[in-house]
Amino acid sequence: MPEPARVIPFARPVIGDAEKNVALEVLNGHVLVHGPRIHDFEHAFADWTNAPGAVALSSCTAGLHLAYFGRGLGAGDEVIVPAMTHVATAHAVELVGATPVFVDAEAATGNIDIDQIEAAITPRTKALSVVHYLGMPVDMDRINAIAQKHGLFVVEDCALAIGSFFKGVHAGLHGDIGLFSFYPVKHMTTLEGGMAISKHADVLTRMTRERAFGVDRTHRERAIAGQYDVTCLGFNYRMNELQAAVGIEQVKRLDSFLTARKANYDTIAAGLRDVPGIALLQSTHGDFVSSYYCQSIVLEGALAAKRFEFVEALNKAGIGTSIYYPRPVPEFGYYRQKYGCSDGRFPGAARIAHQSIALPVGPHLQPGDAEYIAAAVRETASQLTPS
Ligand SMILES: Cc1ncc(COP(=O)(O)O)c(C=O)c1O
Repeated sequence: MPEPARVIPFARPVIGDAEKNVALEVLNGHVLVHGPRIHDFEHAFADWTNAPGAVALSSCTAGLHLAYFGRGLGAGDEVIVPAMTHVATAHAVELVGATPVFVDAEAATGNIDIDQIEAAITPRTKALSVVHYLGMPVDMDRINAIAQKHGLFVVEDCALAIGSFFKGVHAGLHGDIGLFSFYPVKHMTTLEGGMAISKHADVLTRMTRERAFGVDRTHRERAIAGQYDVTCLGFNYRMNELQAAVGIEQVKRLDSFLTARKANYDTIAAGLRDVPGIALLQSTHGDFVSSYYCQSIVLEGALAAKRFEFVEALNKAGIGTSIYYPRPVPEFGYYRQKYGCSDGRFPGAARIAHQSIALPVGPHLQPGDAEYIAAAVRETASQLTPS
């Protein structure tokens, strides 16, 4: 088989000398956890997002879990969860013993269909979660209006939303808590890692306690080593110094990462305009600014049934792809078995799950890669479309 003209992974973390040097500094030192870098990273991330505060965590999933745990949710409580998301959004609800109540995705963006939320609310509903799908912000004014009317806690899953703004305010600061992911394919990485931001100081303080066993003061806050009390239950959901050191360097590069993402996204979008059988999800407009996580194409008409042939052709051309996400969450085995969801129950989410292909736009792309991706998609669409 001939070598492809280019090799473009779907995602690749961009790690430079600065990240490597600080990682070595940490390893050469003696402070691997509970050090100053966590604090500095939290400040850097809070500054970048313009948040009043931030709490570093071991992952976004840990933060989602803590959001419900800290709120005291448990058996008998219900949480609204988008059907089109990563399982982590729903697992966090399950982990506290509460019940996720799924709501379908809207066609234009893949975000939760806000028109369908109120029908899913019952007297047991305690929280409402949203995911800014592929970085396209949800209309948080409408979400907050519903939450206020029904007294719900609003959790923003911002795993794909570093650089997403609604009405000029960063994602995560509209609801009661926002959780971010630094997993390697994300906008920036700390290897694994997560961050919480919130407009409520008390929510962040509680999270700081619960991420570390429920102890009532951090190492920084202790005048004498070993002097602390444990005032609530908690986990070990801490981030370590090495992760934080890398994160500090990555935050410095966020603006350039996001500029590259947008440029690549726009180039691919321009190259795919008016390709029969290919629809693009809605991106930045007006008050809604996307973080450009990836370029997701939705195959329609005769192409819809040929997704895997399409993926294979792109992979042969050296283009890495992904699928966000392969099933509506309630159709994954665990949820299907527990809640008995039938196929077709979430048509908006199913369309994206079964007909979309995620294309790379990250800062790892080289000059000409975005044009190459668009050309390969056009070519594949025309080859797979029956004449
Ligand atoms: C929407 C969403 N939420 C949560 C997560 C979980 O993030 P983490 O791996 O940092 O726990 C992911 C991971 O990809 C995600 O896409």
